[in-house]
Amino acid sequence: MPLLEVENIVKTFRRGRGPVVRAVNDVSFAVDEGHTTALIGESGSGKSTVARVVLGLTRPDSGHVRIDGTDLTQIPEKQLRAMRSSVTAVFQEPYESLNPRMTVEAIVGEPLRIFDRSASKATRRDRVVQSMEEVGLSAAHLRRHPGDLSGGQQQRIGIARALIVRPRLIVLDEPTSSLDLTVRATILMLLDELQRRHNLAYLFISHDIATVRYFSTTTAVMYLGHFMETGPTADVIDHPAHPYTVAMLSSTLSVDEVTTAAPKRLQGESPSPATRFTGCPLASRCPHRIDRCDQAPVPLSPITSTRSSACVRTTELVPGLSSQEVSP
Ligand SMILES: Nc1ncnc2c1ncn2[C@@H]1O[C@H](COP(=O)(O)OP(=O)(O)OP(=O)(O)O)[C@@H](O)[C@H]1O
Ligand SMILES: [Mg+2]
Repeated sequence: MPLLEVENIVKTFRRGRGPVVRAVNDVSFAVDEGHTTALIGESGSGKSTVARVVLGLTRPDSGHVRIDGTDLTQIPEKQLRAMRSSVTAVFQEPYESLNPRMTVEAIVGEPLRIFDRSASKATRRDRVVQSMEEVGLSAAHLRRHPGDLSGGQQQRIGIARALIVRPRLIVLDEPTSSLDLTVRATILMLLDELQRRHNLAYLFISHDIATVRYFSTTTAVMYLGHFMETGPTADVIDHPAHPYTVAMLSSTLSVDEVTTAAPKRLQGESPSPATRFTGCPLASRCPHRIDRCDQAPVPLSPITSTRSSACVRTTELVPGLSSQEVSP
């Protein structure tokens, strides 16, 4: 059984009397213990909303989030709080997510105060020091405040705070995007090391394709709340199947000519997130659009034993795939 199972999540938002935005539209995926699943896709595609649903910070309109088989969407608030210690998070802006008036010791120890009230002060301090050591900081930092620390150190504090309750899954929502390039690499190496040491699962959200390629086992590509393509990361990034993935990657990487049919560019701008689509949400922009694309929803469907695509033309556009086994 996967550690995390997300099944048919739908999440809509409505601002005031404005139109309803379907931020997450029937999304399903799993994360195995000790592995990393990445979510990629342009700004506003729904990645952070998926993250918030997984963290129990946002209740979905419908769908299920299971940790070890327990459905977080079905349990009462009190039990949910207890479950939350098995899934923690590290966010993009370390400084914004750390209270500047608190000491490092209080920040790192806070989740323990919430989730493990029985822990004595001494135990708590030991766990804080232990957590700090895990991220390469010493007890000398305990009395400091976030403002005294560098960006990299602040993010290490964020990671120490996420680790202290001994989670099994950590949601990493662009954990290195606000950091300098050199610091980025050290934080990623740290996350990698922690994953192996504790057999942690990660849900990793990033705009940085090279990092995703290095870091994650499986990848899901999002566009306007929909999963367009999923599969092993190396396959999705080196041999993208969906026209959206092809277009997104060819704007950042050079995509192998043989694996994809030209043209690769999308037309026009992204439609408003409030648009209701009868068919594929990419249809109006897709260079491969045919009438069928607009007529009915295009569900994510298996194209090989490990990959799925939400495009009616995938096998035709990516000829190499047809020779691979398609799961029944
Ligand atoms: N609390 C909210 N109220 C109203 N709309 C929201 C709310 N949170 C998210 N949205 C909308 O839902 C959609 C998805 O947003 P989300 O933040 O999940 O995207 P994202 O993929 O994380 O984007 P980014 O890469 O910029 O972080 C967007 O259209 C956004 O405006
Ligand atoms: Mg986001």
